[in-house]
Amino acid sequence: MSASDSHAPVLVPDYSLRAHNTFGFEARSRWFCRIETADQFAAVLRDPRVAGLPHLVLGGGSNIVLTHDFDGVVMLVALAGKRLVREDDQTWYVEAAAGENWHAFVAWTLENGLPGLENLALIPGTVGAAPIQNIGAYGLEMAERFHSLQAIELATGARVELDAGQCRFGYRDSFFKQEGRERFAITSVTFRLPKAWTPRADYADVARVLEASGTDASPRAIFDAVVAVRRAKLPDPAMLGNAGSFFKNPVVDETTYEALRAHEPQIASYRQADGRVKLAAGWLIDRCGWKGRAVGGAAVHDRQALVLVNRGGATGAQVLELARAIQADVLARFGVRLEAEPVVI
Ligand code: EPU
Repeated sequence: MSASDSHAPVLVPDYSLRAHNTFGFEARSRWFCRIETADQFAAVLRDPRVAGLPHLVLGGGSNIVLTHDFDGVVMLVALAGKRLVREDDQTWYVEAAAGENWHAFVAWTLENGLPGLENLALIPGTVGAAPIQNIGAYGLEMAERFHSLQAIELATGARVELDAGQCRFGYRDSFFKQEGRERFAITSVTFRLPKAWTPRADYADVARVLEASGTDASPRAIFDAVVAVRRAKLPDPAMLGNAGSFFKNPVVDETTYEALRAHEPQIASYRQADGRVKLAAGWLIDRCGWKGRAVGGAAVHDRQALVLVNRGGATGAQVLELARAIQADVLARFGVRLEAEPVVI
């Protein structure tokens, strides 16, 4: 650590967050700063100008809905660096700083012969945000490749290390969305990548692309297939503002599932290890006829009903209004409650 590391970063007043949320909503923060070293979190919070104000640790802004200005301090995580920290006979341990772009990190692991994260290609956001909602896609959850993380406890400035058990990962869930909410800033994450690589290529969409390309399921082929599937279904936030899936896929008990299936034999679902059934929220929303419908500039994406988009000029409030109408409709029609996935400010 150099002498300048603990220096407080520059606090910018009245800062537009438009470029820092993938919905592209206009909202202003009373104070804004870029965090480039771990110690700067505590340094900022000691500054008398922000003492007592709410704080928001922000990564890529790909999982938030800004509905109004933020009367506090936004700390943009710009911590950089990635490296192979160690290896043994079975495992590579790879660490990345929280501010690294997730997709660029995944691409870097493959370029360096460190496979295992390829199913999570093209997920928007940063490395530091990945454990918070335990990102997952196409047959893999981040938790399966997670070793540990480093974080700062914001109230004390203390550095802490948490292992997988302490992070309490669940489906799109972790300690950081529950008891740990708003208490920590993740500074780096270490992944454990098994040297005995096996493909995860069962997910129907991915399997189809691989088969069509006629290539073996190598890490690179899976990476390319996932990228192709995501590009076909999910809107690029740079072109059409969105925060990925707006709702979690609801999990229901066996009885509820059987009752639903009696009326809707086509219902898209996945059996869980505990016997319960995860329903595809996108299918439920689609079945209610929401694809393409809009409230102002906020709309349901026309290729994946689970994604809400900003067609231009939408506000966070309009997205929430649309989300509430969808929730009410799905509840009335199927008796199933949809839970919003992004953080609403
Ligand atoms: N479906 C429809 N209509 C739609 C959308 C989906 O009928 O408008 C059906 C599909 O045909 C399929 C099923 O619903 O049978 C599931 O759809 P899909 O494979 O697109 O996945 P999902 O369950 O909607 C989840 C994740 C995505 C992840 C994909 C692939 C959640 C909340 N979402 O979506 O994650 O990329 O699986 O693994 O779990 C995200 O979290 O932001 C995200 C994009």
